[in-house]
Amino acid sequence: MDTKSTVFVAGHRGLVGSALVRMLKNKGYENILLKSRDELDLLDQAAVNYFFQQNKIDYVIIAAAKVGGILYNSRCQADFLYENLVIAATLINAAANNGVRKLLYLGSSCIYPKLAEQPLKEEYLLTGPLEPTNEGYAIAKIAGLKLCEKYNMQYGKCFISAMPTNLYGPGDNFHPENSHVIPGMMRRFHFATLRNDPEVVVWGTGSPRREFLHVDDLAEGLHVLMQRYHDPQVINIGSGEDIPIKDLAYLMKDITGYKGEIVFDTTKPDGTPRKVMDVSKIKALDWKPDYSLEEGLRSTYEWVLENKIFENDDEKDYRRLRRGEIRL
Ligand SMILES: NC(=O)c1ccc[n+]([C@@H]2O[C@H](COP(=O)([O-])OP(=O)(O)OC[C@H]3O[C@@H](n4cnc5c(N)ncnc54)[C@H](OP(=O)(O)O)[C@@H]3O)[C@@H](O)[C@H]2O)c1
Repeated sequence: MDTKSTVFVAGHRGLVGSALVRMLKNKGYENILLKSRDELDLLDQAAVNYFFQQNKIDYVIIAAAKVGGILYNSRCQADFLYENLVIAATLINAAANNGVRKLLYLGSSCIYPKLAEQPLKEEYLLTGPLEPTNEGYAIAKIAGLKLCEKYNMQYGKCFISAMPTNLYGPGDNFHPENSHVIPGMMRRFHFATLRNDPEVVVWGTGSPRREFLHVDDLAEGLHVLMQRYHDPQVINIGSGEDIPIKDLAYLMKDITGYKGEIVFDTTKPDGTPRKVMDVSKIKALDWKPDYSLEEGLRSTYEWVLENKIFENDDEKDYRRLRRGEIRL
């Protein structure tokens, strides 16, 4: 892949997709192909095939998916399964039929078996039952990465898959109900600070350990994979370091300037005690993250404030609001 190649980033308005576009532009890529959902619905197979036939696409990175936090994922499993299956099957098949030289698909650390040993190694995939609350999402994602592997084996296509850990950064989803742990926590501490609340309640004991990666570090890592990784086997991408949720909460308190107390509600479930990736394979490709968690969180909070992400708090659909697609 070089700066003259035509690169199609599917899902360029999302957390990962927007970071990929930033990274490619910074590196001087001149032919980045982008289509919003209104211009090209990736659930529409005929439209996607036509788009690939009309454009000479060299490289594809699939950052489009239906993504959400635990609640949204568990309540809408049919939608997560259907949409993610169709997006993967449609794009991967269209790429295979239209001369795409390389394609990168994204799985996720949350599709490893629920009780897999830690740190998570690539070979643990499909070795045990999945987490029931996101089974729909996980099955679809596994189908997507297996499709890449099978096109690789049957047709010799250079279609690869990466398994990112929990991501955060500019462009994240800060929705009050649908967001992941970092944007959700940042939001709660932000408003607690504004309201001068005496306490912020965090679910569980705070002892479970989780791994996080800044999305700009992910984008750099994915570029390395586009340049140097050709194996059909999935490859993990993460910091390889986990921290207790309790420490994350205190870091967030510091970053948002919150002065009250943090209370851990131990009547609420803790979830898996530890989730962290084994990242030895990607480290061997000479990639490592630049951001420490603290630096990454500080710069994300600065971005949130600059972009007034938490204004218009009553609005449910933050993303569309932010893009000016809807107004209050
Ligand atoms: N976020 C994480 O912590 C994380 C962790 C591990 C792996 N991943 C993986 O990374 C990938 C990207 O995740 P993300 O967090 O960047 O998600 P995101 O912020 O929700 O972005 C997803 C993008 O996909 C687009 N999209 C979804 N359905 C579409 C459709 N039918 N037609 C056209 N575009 C469609 C969305 O368009 P709209 O903007 O129009 O909604 C959005 O731009 C996913 O495969 C996810 O599994 C994410």
